[in-house]
Amino acid sequence: MQTKILMVCLGNICRSPLAQGILQNKLPSQFYWVDSAGTAAWHSGQQPDERSIAIAKKNGLDITEQRARQFKITDFFTFDYIYAMDKYNYENIVKMAPDVASIKKVKLILNEVSETKNEDIPDPYYGGSKGFEKVYAMLDEACEIVAKKITI
Ligand code: 4NP
Repeated sequence: MQTKILMVCLGNICRSPLAQGILQNKLPSQFYWVDSAGTAAWHSGQQPDERSIAIAKKNGLDITEQRARQFKITDFFTFDYIYAMDKYNYENIVKMAPDVASIKKVKLILNEVSETKNEDIPDPYYGGSKGFEKVYAMLDEACEIVAKKITI
């Protein structure tokens, strides 16, 4: 049995593909399945943003096989942990939850770093490559904690 973790942002082309790649690299694939999705369908079927591909590559990760897809209600049953990149997407995921058990699976990813701060991974889409470097560093720190937490 694999533990299943889903990373969710808005477009599923910038932040959550990085989160997926980073966490996948920290966990043995035999026991852990990591996926990502977006609350919006705008980029469904697309490769990650080239700036996410570039920062991943710089850090030794290949995320080019990923394709964007929209978050769906059945994800609540498939996944054990659902991590939202920001409060906007957290709220939109929770609104779709069919029951209390589903809501309990959803967490803001940076609350794994600072429990009560409710901080966002900033949306880097309209910025430059510096924004992607910052997002990568934030996600690497958060995913290190997530990996330790779920392998205990
Ligand atoms: P993501 O970033 O949610 O991290 O994938 C975005 C990607 C696309 C758009 C916004 C954010 N967009 O407006 O198309």
